Amino acid sequence: MAKAVEVGEFMGKKVLVVGGGGREHALAWKLAQSPELERLYVAPGNAGTNEWNVPISQNDITGLVKFAQDNKIDLTVVGPEEPLSLGIADALREAGLRVFGPTQAAAQLEGSKAFAKTVMQAANIPTAEWDVFTDPTLAKDYVRKIGAPCVIKADGLAAGKGVIVAMDLDTALQAVDEMMDGAFGDAGKKIVVEEYLEGQEVSLLCFADGTSALPMVPVQDHKRALDGDQGLNTGGMGTYSPPPVWTPEIEERVKREILYPSLDEMRRRGIPFTGVLFLGLMLTERGPKVLEYNVRFGDPETQVVMMRMQSDLLPVLWACTEGKLGEVKLEWAKDVAVCVVMAAPGYPQSYEKGIPLVIPAEVEKDGAVFHAGTALKDNRIVSSGGRVLGVTASGSNLVEARAKAYSIVGKIDFPKAHYRKDIGVKGLSK
Ligand code: AMP
Ligand code: GLY
Repeated sequence: MAKAVEVGEFMGKKVLVVGGGGREHALAWKLAQSPELERLYVAPGNAGTNEWNVPISQNDITGLVKFAQDNKIDLTVVGPEEPLSLGIADALREAGLRVFGPTQAAAQLEGSKAFAKTVMQAANIPTAEWDVFTDPTLAKDYVRKIGAPCVIKADGLAAGKGVIVAMDLDTALQAVDEMMDGAFGDAGKKIVVEEYLEGQEVSLLCFADGTSALPMVPVQDHKRALDGDQGLNTGGMGTYSPPPVWTPEIEERVKREILYPSLDEMRRRGIPFTGVLFLGLMLTERGPKVLEYNVRFGDPETQVVMMRMQSDLLPVLWACTEGKLGEVKLEWAKDVAVCVVMAAPGYPQSYEKGIPLVIPAEVEKDGAVFHAGTALKDNRIVSSGGRVLGVTASGSNLVEARAKAYSIVGKIDFPKAHYRKDIGVKGLSK
C-alpha cells in the first residue's frame, strides 16, 4: 500500500489510474511503490487492484472528470485507448486537471489506421506499402495488384481484431468483403490494404512529452492464441523483455527514422503527442518498419516493463505532462522479465466467466500476479474477462525467468485455464 510522504518535504500526490486490465494493475503496482504518492485510485480496476478501486467505468468521461475534481487528483493516468479516443485527456485538461495521455486529436494515431499512415507518409517513416479504400471494388483491384500475402485492416478501433493477415488471394478478397459488409461495424467502413512484412515483431513503448521522447525497454509480445504462433490473433498472450533480436544499433535507427520524426510530424500538425507512443515494429531484412502506432501503454507489455523499471514511475509521468522529459534519466534492471497470460477457456472467441481462482500468497515472493479480467464475488476471486491473469517473473536470464513464471502458473488453481507454453521461446533460440 502507498506510503505517505514526510510532511514538509513535498506534497504527496493523488493519482488516478483509468482502466481495469493487467496493464492498469501493473501501473498501479509500480505507482504504489513511489515515495511521492499520497493516495492511489483505480477506476474501475479489478480484483487485483481492489484496495484502490472506485466504481466508475473507464469510458464514463463525465464521471471520471467529476471524481478527479471532487478528490483533487493531481495526476490522472489513462490506460486504455478507448477513453483517449473519446477525448478524456481534453476533458480533464479543460477542467484544469493534469493528465498523462494524448489528446483526442493525437490519439488518432491509433484510432485511425489511415490517419497513422498519412503521418508516416508525410514524415517518410518506414512502413508497409499501403492504400486506403471506402469502395470494395477498388480495394479488391488493389489486392489483386499487390497479390498475396497481404494485410487487410479496419480503419477504426476493433479491440485488436480488425486486422486480417491473408496468406492467399481468396482470403484477402473475402476479408475486404467481410470488413466492408460491417463485420467490425463502422470501424471497417474504411479499410487499409497493405504489403505483408516478414520478420520478428518488437513493441517499443516510448514516453513522450510533446517534443522529446524516451524509449522504455523493448518487448516481444505473442499475439496468437496458440503455441508456435498458431490460432487467432488476441490482445496478447504473453511477453518477455528484452528480446535478443534487439540491438543498440536497431534502437538508434528506430529513434532516428521513426520515433523522432513521428513526434516532429505531430507537432508540425499542431497536435503534439504527450503520453506513451507505442511503436509496433517489424524488424525486416531491410530494417525496422512500423506495423502500427498505439497511443498508450501496451497490455501485456506493461507488465514486464514495470517489473524491469528501476526508476520511480510517478516523476517520469509528471515530467511528460510538464514537457520536461529531457531532464529524466530512466534506469532499468538487467534482469529478463517474462509475463505469461492465463486466459479463460475459449478466448479470444466466446469464453466462460465466473470461474473461481485461487492464487496462493506464497507465489508473490517469486514474481507478481497481475490481474486482468477478475472480480470479487462473495470475497472470492472469479474470472470476469478473456485475459484473466498476467503471471510475471524476472531472472538473471530468460531460462530462469521463464522457469519462475511457469512455476507460478503451475501453483495457481484456475480450472481449464488457457495459456501458451512457449512465451519467450523465440528468444532462447538466438
Ligand atoms: P496491428 O494491429 O496493425 O499491429 O496488426 C495486428 C497484428 O497483425 C500485428 O501485430 C502483426 O502480427 C500483424 N500485422 C499487421 N500488419 C502486418 C503487415 N504489414 N505484415 C505482416 N503482419 C502484419
Ligand atoms: N499487446 C498489444 C497491445 O497492447 O496493443
